[in-house]
Amino acid sequence: MDKREICSGVYWLGAIDWERQLFDALVPLPEGTSYNAYLIKGGSKTALLDTVEPDMVDTLLHQLRDVPAVDYVIVHHAEQDHSGSLPTILEKYPHAQVITSAKCLPLLQDMFSLEKDRCLIVKDGDTLDLGGRTLEFMAMPWVHWPETMVSYLREDHILFTCDFFGSHLATSDLFAHDKARVYDAAKRYYAQIMMPFRTHIAKHLERLVPMDVRVICPSHGPVFDDPPFIMEAYRDWVNAPPQNKVVIPYVSMHHSTKLMVDMLVGELAARGVSVQPFEMTVTDIGRLAAALVDASTVVMATPTVLNGPHPNIAYAAFLMNLLKPKTKYLSVIGSLGWGGKVVEQLSGILTNLKLELLDPVLVKGVPAEKDRAALAALAQTIAHKHSL
Ligand code: FEO
Repeated sequence: MDKREICSGVYWLGAIDWERQLFDALVPLPEGTSYNAYLIKGGSKTALLDTVEPDMVDTLLHQLRDVPAVDYVIVHHAEQDHSGSLPTILEKYPHAQVITSAKCLPLLQDMFSLEKDRCLIVKDGDTLDLGGRTLEFMAMPWVHWPETMVSYLREDHILFTCDFFGSHLATSDLFAHDKARVYDAAKRYYAQIMMPFRTHIAKHLERLVPMDVRVICPSHGPVFDDPPFIMEAYRDWVNAPPQNKVVIPYVSMHHSTKLMVDMLVGELAARGVSVQPFEMTVTDIGRLAAALVDASTVVMATPTVLNGPHPNIAYAAFLMNLLKPKTKYLSVIGSLGWGGKVVEQLSGILTNLKLELLDPVLVKGVPAEKDRAALAALAQTIAHKHSL
């Protein structure tokens, strides 16, 4: 795909990775992704904002075939999906200067050999004059790494946000007009990449409020020509109280734990509580992460394996502990043969979260009617807690 015009003199460039299935060897990409770069032509200078995953640098070089000079390469973030093609671009444009933050430069130098006299450090509030067009740099740590900055093209009201507001979505659409599809992809992306940094993001969102941002250009997924759409979604994910919703990661070895999950799902649904079970031997962890964004309660459902939870449930707990959702309540249900410490072990994993533990329901062997009553009591407690 060739470069595309966002407005006169401002272009989307980049590579659409239709086939990639996994990011960071962790994040599933059911809809692929894109690595967006942007080109701004000012009256006197031209700036390239970020690059692409190095495997796809040929696509970027093709898009730059008729761009004789790039004066500045802005590096918002050091992760290789955006910075990895920097050496190739600097070779193509030997007079281009790298503009980045003081925190980003050493990270880049850890990956490539960068001549120091080609690099200009900018700090929050600094500007770069391109000739009738002014880029303002804003430090926005932790979207996604501590060095991240964004830049604002003042005259055109365009905010270039790198990972912030991104979505892992391979699409031929330049703009995010298929809102339902983009919302889902952006929520998954937020859950897996941004949610651990919620408190930082809340401050960054506040900072954007007084600005007259008319276009948001992230480094993954489509461009937002309706910024309130994604900014309001972020405010909701970051700040709104969790919903009347339960997420149940589960594994069952001999159907007993599954039977308990089915019972609990029915009891919760009967009380008007939304519930999403995820079978952890096959589930897409991106869907699980997205569900955690606004779940008030998580119930881990596990058989006892060698005295502890099934390893896939321990993984679910470990992942949840990393992602730090707004979840308030935790419970554990499951079937065991003779004994174990599943509750202690799972609680011991979830140390980053302040969770209130609701009475677990652990059953020996196949659940009986009395166990259904215990699950109904747990559902009642959850419904009550959610109503507070
Ligand atoms: Fe898309 Fe943190 O890199």
